[in-house]
Amino acid sequence: MKMQAQEFVNLKGTKPITMLTAYTCPVARALEAAGIPIILVGDTVGMVEMGFDSTRDVTLAHMEYHIGAVRRGAPNTHIIGDLPYETDKDPETALTSARRLMAAGADSIKLEGPKTDVISHLKQAGIPVVGHTGLTPQTAKSFAKVGRTDAEAKRIMDEAIAIQEAGAFMLVLEHIPYTLAQNITGALRIPTIGIGAGPDCDGQVLVINDALGLGDYWPPFSKQYDYVGKTIQDVAKRFAAEVESLEFPNNIIQMTGTGRR
Ligand code: KIV
Repeated sequence: MKMQAQEFVNLKGTKPITMLTAYTCPVARALEAAGIPIILVGDTVGMVEMGFDSTRDVTLAHMEYHIGAVRRGAPNTHIIGDLPYETDKDPETALTSARRLMAAGADSIKLEGPKTDVISHLKQAGIPVVGHTGLTPQTAKSFAKVGRTDAEAKRIMDEAIAIQEAGAFMLVLEHIPYTLAQNITGALRIPTIGIGAGPDCDGQVLVINDALGLGDYWPPFSKQYDYVGKTIQDVAKRFAAEVESLEFPNNIIQMTGTGRR
């Protein structure tokens, strides 16, 4: 059954939390079938699915569309909806935006940076919030690791604590030194979910397209478990060859599936 925010908090220190992003119904269906307890519909959708150069091009309407698709594919999985750039610029704007994403199917909302007034406003309105610090792509000038200097590390630690105290139930730590992530994880009551933040977080998240190898660029801290982009090329070439040789459709082989079509 679908896990709620407090159940993820209760997992801290007991069992690592596995999170993956998803943007489409069939991928969400596969993640739910695999037993993934929490799916992030991230604004990475803009870069890995929509071809934009930045997550800043993603709109609330884009997020509603993708959250709706993921919800239909994974009705029993906790779904986090990401607030796009500027849609959380002040508490009231953020609440209106968050309500749209919840209506589209999200169970909780993620936002980038130490916007403590926004986080506490959403929490008071009954919306569970996931924080995000370290590298925050909506405002970052590059994708380089952050938190290497003592001053930056202190800023990120302070932000993490402030985000927790404002009411977030979970915190994504992106591309920071492993020791800093370990220190933050030890200092917080809420679970940390790392991406490029080392092994000592309470859980890990990967962008599903990176894990699938669906694309042509992958961040150095991601892991490709397969190379689906190459599979697509191979299938397209095989199909073209069979059409041209008149083998298809006489040689159709039915694959085992769910029989949903
Ligand atoms: O938008 C996203 O997918 C994210 C992950 C990289 C954590 O924020």
